[in-house]
Order: sequence, then C-alpha cells, then structure tokens
Amino acid sequence: MKVTLTVDAENKIAEINPRLYGGFVEHLGRNVYGGVYAPEDPTADEDGFRKDVLELVHDLDIPVTRYPGGCFSSSWFWEDGVGKDRPVRLDTYWKQLEPNTFGLSEFMKWAKKAKTEPLLTFNVSMRPAVDSARMVEYCNFPKGTALSDMRRANGDEEPYGVKLFCLGNEQYGSWEYGHAPAEVYGVRAREVVKQVRNLQPDAKFILCGDADSMEWNEKVLDICYDYVDMLSIHFGIWTGEENDDTYFDRLNTCRRYIEDSINVCEKIRKKHNSEKRLTLAVDEWILWNSVKDPVPGEEWTCGMHLLEQDYVLRDVLMVGGLYSLFHNAADKVSLVCEAQTVNVIAPIRTAPNGVIWKQGIYYPIRYASRYGRGTALKIEGAPARLHVSAVDRREQNEIALYLTNTTFEEIKLDCGLIHFNGEEWSVAEAVMLTSTDEKSCNTADKTVLAPEELKNVSTAGNTLNATLSPRSWNFVLLRRK
Ligand code: AHR
Repeated sequence: MKVTLTVDAENKIAEINPRLYGGFVEHLGRNVYGGVYAPEDPTADEDGFRKDVLELVHDLDIPVTRYPGGCFSSSWFWEDGVGKDRPVRLDTYWKQLEPNTFGLSEFMKWAKKAKTEPLLTFNVSMRPAVDSARMVEYCNFPKGTALSDMRRANGDEEPYGVKLFCLGNEQYGSWEYGHAPAEVYGVRAREVVKQVRNLQPDAKFILCGDADSMEWNEKVLDICYDYVDMLSIHFGIWTGEENDDTYFDRLNTCRRYIEDSINVCEKIRKKHNSEKRLTLAVDEWILWNSVKDPVPGEEWTCGMHLLEQDYVLRDVLMVGGLYSLFHNAADKVSLVCEAQTVNVIAPIRTAPNGVIWKQGIYYPIRYASRYGRGTALKIEGAPARLHVSAVDRREQNEIALYLTNTTFEEIKLDCGLIHFNGEEWSVAEAVMLTSTDEKSCNTADKTVLAPEELKNVSTAGNTLNATLSPRSWNFVLLRRK
C-alpha cells in the first residue's frame, strides 16, 4: 500500500505537556513489594529500592508518578506509612497483606531517586475531607505544627512540596470503595479542595471523570468546575478475546472519550461563565486481560502475582497508537499515567535476585517519552489503521515521527515536510519493532520484542521515504542538516 503524508510546521496542535509520560505505583501485587521495593534483593540500595528498576525508570524518563492507587487509595490510611511503627493491615480491596514497610515516606524518597513528580490520590470517599488536608499538612507544611513536626521527626526535614492531587479514584464505579452518586462525590471532592487549597494555593486537582458517562462528568463538573484543574478519564483496553478489528477500534473509542469529555468541560465552562479551561488527565490507561482474583480468606500474603500481564506484538502496536493519540490530543490532554510501572500490567517485569526484563510495550513508551517533547503537529493523509503523530523538537532541530502500522500490509511511505523554512533533513535515528510471531512475548529468559534498525528509510530535501513492515511500530528522528 502506498501512503502519502504531510507534516506541516504551521499546522500546530499544541505544546506537549511532559506529564504525558507519567507512571503509576499502586500497592497492588508486586508493583511495590518485589517491584520498586525489595530490601532483601541483591539489587536493593540503602533504602530497599531495586536499583535495576530505578535504572529502567530513568531510561523511561517518567516525569510524574501516581501513588498509592487506584482502587487501593479508597482504603488508604496514609498515616500507616510514616514513622517507626508500621501496622500490618489487611487490604480488603486487593485481598493482600499490607505491611506498610513502604508508605508515603518511602514513596517520596523513591520519587526523588526516580526523578519523578509525585501525584497523590486522596481517599475522598472513605475518609472526611480534613484527613486529606492533614496529609497535605504532613507533606508540605514547613514546620511548627504537630504534623509537619512529625514529618521532621520522621527524618524528612524538608517539605515534600507535592502539588498534584487526584480527588479519589473511579468513584463512578460500583467496584470502587465509597462509590456514590455523582452529586455525592462532587460535594465530597469540592470539600477536599476547599481545605487543601488554603494550605497549598498552587496545588492542582484532578476530578474523577468517567470516560464512558458524560452524564456523570456533567454532574461532577457542575459542582466542582471552579475548584479543579483537570478531569480524569481512564482507558481500560481488554486485550484478551476481541478480534483484531475490534481491538484496534478501541483507539477510536479512546479518541471519542477525549472529545466527549472535553466538550462537557467546555459546556460547563460556558455555563459557569468561567475563563478557566480544564484539561484532561488520562491518569490510567490499562491493557489488561488477566484479572485473577486472589481467593479471600485462604491466603493473605504480601507481594502476590496479581495482574502480571504478558504483552504480545499487537499490544505493542496498541501502545504505539495510544501515544500517537495522546500527541494528537495535546491541546486537550495534559497528563497521562501508564498503569502501571512495574510487574502489574506493566512495561517492566522483575523476579527475585536481580532478574528484570522489558516487555515489548516498554519501547513505544520509552520513545514517546524521550523524544515526544515539543510541539505536536497535525499529520494529514493517514489511512485507517496507520496511527501517526509528529513532534516538532525545535530546540533540538529535530522532528520525531511515530508510525504504527497495524495492518497486515507493507506500507510505502512518502512524507512531505512543509513550512519548515525549506530546511533539509537527515535521518538521525530510525527504529522499528515487529515480529512474525503474533503470540510471543518477552520473558526473563528470552527477548522476542525489541526495536531493531529501520532500514528502508531515506530523505531527499524535505521528503521522507520509508517502508513500514506489516504489523510494525516505527520511530524516525529527523535532524536538520
Ligand atoms: O490499574 C489497576 C486498577 O484498575 C486500578 O486500581 C483501578 O483504578 C483501575 O480500575
């Protein structure tokens, strides 16, 4: 198939917010225990953090990390994770034993080492608003109050300076602890903001939206529009049974979620006569098909193998498509968290004794994060099932192109670069990921999904030519000559 694309430097979407490349550490399975934190492992540093995990987190360059959930946050008592005496609790949501040896204090320390900004999820539904305000006082108030002095006594002299907060998690869902009608949740969320805002005037608040229900979004925004900064929506993509067309059609559904949700934000903005424009936070996107509930009561342990999903080629293509979708929605979406960072539906997997491997989905995430910073440009001419995005990296004199071919056909690509002041371009880097085996995934012992050089690629003046293999994710970095 022949495809002609045009990238126009004047056809700008928006500056990409670096927070588009966020991660997520939930107290779930082996994300924390055995993942980021494993004091017994030979890879552990002086704080018990796995150094090999930190290395890959640095490689992914994750600017923001959500913590401690997810559904876990609706039964979270932040006080359990600070100070010397840590209570062992039952986490009745995920049915795990929670030793609290990793808690708020450790997360803050880890976030610093991981060079990632913390995004904390309040427990808005099961605890009164004042408890969220107290957590922020513990985190951010310099000194001279019981809670700020408690932080200092616990060894953290300097305030953490947390500025990003989720007002609960998935409160629209019947599965979530504290699930309530939109009107009830809206009031709970608003009351939290009122208390926390006075403590931390520059804090940013993310309201729980529902990607699938504009009715919910309208109701909660009507109560909270003037108080919040972003509306969250989650993308849950089931990788299991669906056929290929249905699977990739989820990218269109996700695009619709973004458009519908931002339209509701705009509708309520007008109704409230507000100048403030909200953006969207996709603070969870999930590729998932292996939910295996632990058996309640039979065994309560810590660090169970939960949601350890293996990803195959089409998942790599899906992730490539998702990041192009986020680039192309850079004017609407300002924060994204890949759910989750380690072991649990994750790009990074670990086993004890320093065993670590990258899943295939690691690579589209990495290349999006490392090169997808700059101005997102519109690309004209892409047929269905070729998912593309372009980032103008003006400061680096580079253009990053992301091209995901989900079809079973080879694509002969001719891509014109216009209004870049007639500059000539050379190929600085070109990689692709494909496989003839649709069923294989990376494991501790074998790597079958990893990028290799994209060979058939060239430039002539302001035109790029490339051959994209069937079922391939591709990345091309062009540099001004
Ligand atoms: O990411 C796993 C779970 O999926 C999270 O806890 C929840 O928010 C979502 O439904």
